[in-house]
Parts: sequence; structure tokens; C-alpha cells
Amino acid sequence: MAGLAPDIQEIVRKDIPLAPYTSFGIGGPADLYAEPKTIEQLEALVTEADKNHIPYYILGGGSNTLFSDKGFRGIVIRPQFKKISTTETPTEASIVAEAGATIAQLIQAAAKSDLSGIEVWVGLPGTIGGAVRGNAGAGGVEIKDMLSSATILDLKQRKIMELSNADLELEYRHSTLKDKPHLIVLSATFHFDKKLPAQEQQLLMKDVLQKRHATQPKGKSAGCAFKNGTDPLTHTIISAGKLIDECGLKGTRVGGIEISTIHGNFLQNTGNATQQDVLDTIALIKKTVKTQKNIDLHEEIQIVPE
Ligand code: EPU
Repeated sequence: MAGLAPDIQEIVRKDIPLAPYTSFGIGGPADLYAEPKTIEQLEALVTEADKNHIPYYILGGGSNTLFSDKGFRGIVIRPQFKKISTTETPTEASIVAEAGATIAQLIQAAAKSDLSGIEVWVGLPGTIGGAVRGNAGAGGVEIKDMLSSATILDLKQRKIMELSNADLELEYRHSTLKDKPHLIVLSATFHFDKKLPAQEQQLLMKDVLQKRHATQPKGKSAGCAFKNGTDPLTHTIISAGKLIDECGLKGTRVGGIEISTIHGNFLQNTGNATQQDVLDTIALIKKTVKTQKNIDLHEEIQIVPE
């Protein structure tokens, strides 16, 4: 990108393999890659990309992202602003976390002030930005349940605005941000109305982690590949993992992908899986679950075209 301010020029790198930035471990090189440390740097990068008609992709923790083996023809921007600050009054408490902070860091900050409610998120990968965008959740608690508002950069209108919980239209693994990629999370404010001593939180988290380790595989994957399904007759939610399991697909291999033998909704990269292997596995699962169960599954993972 020509004509960049020197401090921005310094952080833009060329031909950076994306696989190491994803939990799937899949992805070829991005033409350009940058880690802005401030919101101003992010804005400057996007402005330059726009001016030069260079596509950009904002990457969070990479725990839900599937890149192409050919990488990305444009600039991948991975925000590194990650400040977390806690405010407490006698009646309420809130934590503001910047987009690049991790869920793990948010949990730690809450525990430090004995603020309770998100212990069940322990083990949840990813950053605040990605978690808000996809209304991440675990253990029956979603971002939606804890979020007051989010500070958003509107890349089209070039303005920063505060969107409330309602404005964000948070639904199961979805928000309005998924439909509007020009809206980028800068930070999010979470409210807490329960207290629990950190030591007790630790015990709870130990239990959650034990359960997670027993029911979800370790290794390279993007977490749950599909959103949970809906029974067409009863309209109840059915675990996609359970459906895949009942269809007898666990352990199936497609190229370098294995459908986890532990949890059917995890597609594991056994070593050198390609994006196409994942896409083929997704197609096989969708077709089989539709034929055997008459249920349509929808991807939770974000597939990024070259
Ligand atoms: N089950 C099976 N076979 C399987 C997987 C699950 O029979 O292969 C059964 C389990 O035994 C259990 C039920 O299905 O009775 C539900 O399973 P689980 O508790 O694992 O919940 P889930 O609905 O499959 C959801 C989230 C997970 C989250 C867990 C725990 C989705 C798509 N998945 O899984 O989130 O960790 O609950 O809160 O909503 C993610 O989003 O990436 C993710 C992993």
C-alpha cells in the first residue's frame, strides 16, 4: 500500500501464512497482514486499503475461521488492542474489554474483582471482537446475556458509535454485525450483577473444564462446525453433534479431516487438511443429516474465500 504513514507502513507485512493464526491450522499466505495496536492504526489501515481497492478481512482469535489454502488476496488485519478495565459502584459493576482481548482475559478480570456470571465460558477460545460478532456462548450463557453495549467502527460512514445490546440483534450465534462486515467491534461493555469469591469461581471453572475436556476433543479444529439444528416437528433445538453422531458419521475421514470420535460437531485437522477437505466434509454431513433426519444444518464456522 503506497503512501502509508511510516508508523502504519512499519506494521504491514507481506506474504504471511494464515494457518498459524487459526485453531484449524489451515490457510495459505495473505498478500498483506497487519496487527494494529491502536484503534487509530486500524482506521488508518482500512482507509488505505479502501483507497487502494484492497479487500480486507478483520481476524479475531481465529478459532472459528477457515481460510483458503491459497490464502487471502488482500490484507488480513488482526487487532491487538486488548485493554480491559473494571468499574464498580455499590450497585453495579461493568467491564470494558477491547476487541483484541481474549475471552480468557475477560474471565480473569471478572474473577479478580469477584464478579460472577461468565465462569461457564472457561475454555472458550477467541477474542472479544469475534465473540460479540457471533454471540458466542457456552454453558447456557451467551454474550447477549452479559453485554450492555459495544463500541463499533462503521467503516462506510467512518464514524465510531455505541450500539446497545438490542441494536446488535444478538441471536443464537448471530448478530447484525455478521450481516454488515463494515461494522467492526472496537470494544464491548459487560455488566455483572452477581458476586462470587474468586476461589469459588476457580472450583466452578475446574468442573466446567473437566466436562469440556471429557466431551470435546483437543487438537486442531474450529470448535463446533455447525450451529445446533431445529427439529422441524417439535421446533426444539437439537445438538448438531448428537445428530452427526446418530447418523453414524463420527470417525469418518475426508482427506485430512476426521469427524471427531468424541464430539460429532468437531472437524479435526489430522495434519495436513485443506479448506476443500473441510468443505467436502461439511457437504457430506449436511446431506447425510438431511437424508436421515430431515434437518438442515447451517455452518457456524466462517469460511473466508481467497
Ligand atoms: N452428544 C452426542 N454425541 C455427540 C455430541 C453430543 O450424543 O457427538 C450429546 C451429548 O451427550 C449431550 C447433547 O448431545 O447430551 C449436547 O451436547 P453438548 O453438551 O456437547 O452441547 P452441544 O449442543 O453439542 C453446545 C455448543 C458448544 C458448547 C457446548 C457446551 C453449539 C453449536 N455448540 O454444544 O459450543 O461448548 O454446547 O455449552 O451451540 C462452539 O460453538 O464452537 C461450541 C463448541
